[in-house]
This record gives sequence, C-alpha cells and structure tokens, in this order.
Amino acid sequence: MRFVVAGAVIRPAPSGAGAELLLAQRSYPADVAGLWELPGGKLAPGETAEQALVRELAEELAVTVAVGAALSEQVPLRADLTLVAHWARVLDGVPRAVEHHGLTWVDADRLAAMAESGVLVPADTAWVPELLTYLRRQ
Ligand code: CDP
Repeated sequence: MRFVVAGAVIRPAPSGAGAELLLAQRSYPADVAGLWELPGGKLAPGETAEQALVRELAEELAVTVAVGAALSEQVPLRADLTLVAHWARVLDGVPRAVEHHGLTWVDADRLAAMAESGVLVPADTAWVPELLTYLRRQ
C-alpha cells in the first residue's frame, strides 16, 4: 500500500472568531483541474507522512510547516493507494501557488458552501465534517 498525505493547514481567522483552512486549486490532471484540495502528495520510499508533508508543502507552497496529528478519515483512492491528512501550521513563509492555479484561506461557512457546490476534489470531501467542527470551534 502506498500513501498520499495532504495538509489541513490552519490559522486563526483574522477576525479573531474561528479558524481558517488553506485550500489549493489543482492545475492537473484534467479530471480534477480547477477543483480545490488540501495540498500534498505521495510519500517517497522511506518517508513518514510527516516528512512527506513537510517536503510537499515546501515544494508546492514554498513554506515550512509544523505537522500535527492525523485527521480521522483515511480515503482509499485505488486498491494500492490511500489518502491521509494531517493538521499543519505555517512556521515560515507565506504560501504561494507554485504548482497550483491558486490558493485561498476559507472559514467554516465558505468551506461548507464549496463542499455543497461540488468544487472540492471528491476524495477530500471525506474530511469536511471534521474540518468544519475544528474551524467552528476555534
Ligand atoms: O504530486 P504527487 O504525484 O506526489 O501527488 P498528487 O498528484 O498531488 O496526488 C496523488 C493522487 O492523490 C492524485 O490522484 C490526486 O488526485 C490525489 N489527491 C487527492 O485526491 N486529494 C488531495 N488532497 C491530494 C491528492
């Protein structure tokens, strides 16, 4: 089994109420291009999920992140590929769309609206309930 790790990158909302999540708009492949995801990528041989996420977010967003616990849902992508996510925070840098079409910080209401309108990468919708709970509680 191989793994893909995605980052639920969060920050306090500028308003002071709740928290915000970073979403990235995929530029490829065609079936998911234009949809929004938690950024990340495949673990390289010998890497832990935490190491892979630090590397992927440095490559894709040009930031250094601190990686926290895993979210509870694991999403089967194929028979041999499973998608996991970890909470993360930016330690250094300002996220930049190096490989994505764009980036956006969303609050709980915006995330719920995006999920409802079908603009999230399908696999990532598994995390929406847990993300909404976190974003609203902070
Ligand atoms: O760049 P790398 O090949 O390491 O990974 P990727 O192309 O970003 O992701 C590998 C697979 O995981 C693709 O099928 C993506 O669509 C999927 N994926 C996903 O469903 N949700 C994410 N948040 C990240 C990746």
